[in-house]
Amino acid sequence: MTKYILAIDQGTTSSRAMVFAQDRSIAGVGQKEFAQIFPQDGWVEHDPEEIWESVVWAVKTALSEARITAGDVAAIGITNQRETTLIWDRQTGKAIHNAIVWQDRRTAGYCAKLKQDGHEALVTDKTGLLLDPYFSGTKIKWLLDNVEGARQRAEAGELAFGTIDSFLIWRLTGGASHVTDATNAGRTLLFDIAANGWDEQLLALFTVPAALLPEVKDCAADFGTTEASLFGAAMPILGVAGDQHAASIGQACFEPGMLKSTYGTGCFALLNTGTDMVRSKNRLLTTIAYRLDGQTIYALEGSIFIAGAAVQWIRDGLKLVKHASETGPLARTADPSQSVYMVPAFVGLGAPWWDADARGAIYGLTRNSGPAEIAKAALEAVCYQTRDLLEAMRKDWGESGKTVLRVDGGMVASDWTMQFLADILDAPVDRPKILETTALGAAWLAGSKAGVWPGMAEFSQSWALDQRFTPEMDAATRDAKIKGWDDAVRRTLTV
Ligand code: G3P
Repeated sequence: MTKYILAIDQGTTSSRAMVFAQDRSIAGVGQKEFAQIFPQDGWVEHDPEEIWESVVWAVKTALSEARITAGDVAAIGITNQRETTLIWDRQTGKAIHNAIVWQDRRTAGYCAKLKQDGHEALVTDKTGLLLDPYFSGTKIKWLLDNVEGARQRAEAGELAFGTIDSFLIWRLTGGASHVTDATNAGRTLLFDIAANGWDEQLLALFTVPAALLPEVKDCAADFGTTEASLFGAAMPILGVAGDQHAASIGQACFEPGMLKSTYGTGCFALLNTGTDMVRSKNRLLTTIAYRLDGQTIYALEGSIFIAGAAVQWIRDGLKLVKHASETGPLARTADPSQSVYMVPAFVGLGAPWWDADARGAIYGLTRNSGPAEIAKAALEAVCYQTRDLLEAMRKDWGESGKTVLRVDGGMVASDWTMQFLADILDAPVDRPKILETTALGAAWLAGSKAGVWPGMAEFSQSWALDQRFTPEMDAATRDAKIKGWDDAVRRTLTV
């Protein structure tokens, strides 16, 4: 009998569930967008109940589209928007506040103060991260300090902290499992990525009680079993990884030097550095790529906060298009003689700038500029930012790491954008046949653990190319464009 694998991909703007058949083809999908809550400038929240309901709905829809029942599922793999922070009541399972989303900048002042007081070196040394509001640690502290009674209740062991994976597993298992995996733990600012454990010194620095924390497991492990009443039968949860780590796995970036970039809400490039924990001299992050059978593989990461979110803004904010997929065709009609640049610092700038206070800007507008030029500038910005990340990686890792970039995520469906990316990088870009690499990576963790999917070597060989984009732009044009971008960024930075 065919055994199916269910992947749950809880992202920043939507929750998706995907049923994979044993041959790794997709048998059913459920997807639901949910509200983005912006209470103040730079603040971003999600309603945990809406997230939970969207996940349950997506799972039911995917199962029914695949015409299977929960009893046909061998294992579940979960992947998630990282860093987004939740604290809930261990008795009721109810969150004490909305989730504070990774993009949220409310702790920028606190991070600046910690930096000023000289704490960044210790934090970077242990976690591979930087003192930026992006990560969970300062968001946890904010919740404990700002929700009435939270700190006392946390100290008394009544509350639980988790990133979204942890919260979902708690709910799916009816409160039986309070767990996470090493990749998600590694984004909290509380986890020592060399020692592979929660760190007391960091807990003290961010004033986070240890009683809040989940148990940390390998990415392929026994995370618990879903309550049978939820979907009609119990399903084991055997795989968990943060979405960018799952995408690296789905892209089969298992060898040192292999590199992927995922274009979702943001854009995240991860370079596998093997068992070496490469320390960046160029403001990149050192992160856990994955941890399997107790062995940690590391990566250098470049994080851009706004990629697809700029397209979403063009659709929902400016209402220039009805569907995101119209953005590429619109950009193609732009007047090539105009030099319009958009720096999408809507929630500050991530790597390599790490400027929490910067805000978005558009430069070079003329009276002839219109929707097409703005759409083009938004798509181009994602490519310029990718180049900034890859340049930093090249400096940290050297030319030996120069392998072809594997891309995935919604935006890479646009040939126009991928060609521009190859042109600006002056390097080839590989788009795989399967673009659902994040879900695929989570499914592989669960499927291989369940013994119904192949191991790493065979899985790697099944990676298949859809199209390679090779650079076509002449050097003078490229240099001029990059100079224009650098200038736009310089004018946007506040630091
Ligand atoms: O670190 C944030 C990241 O995990 C969010 O990913 O796919 O929602 O852009 P995505």
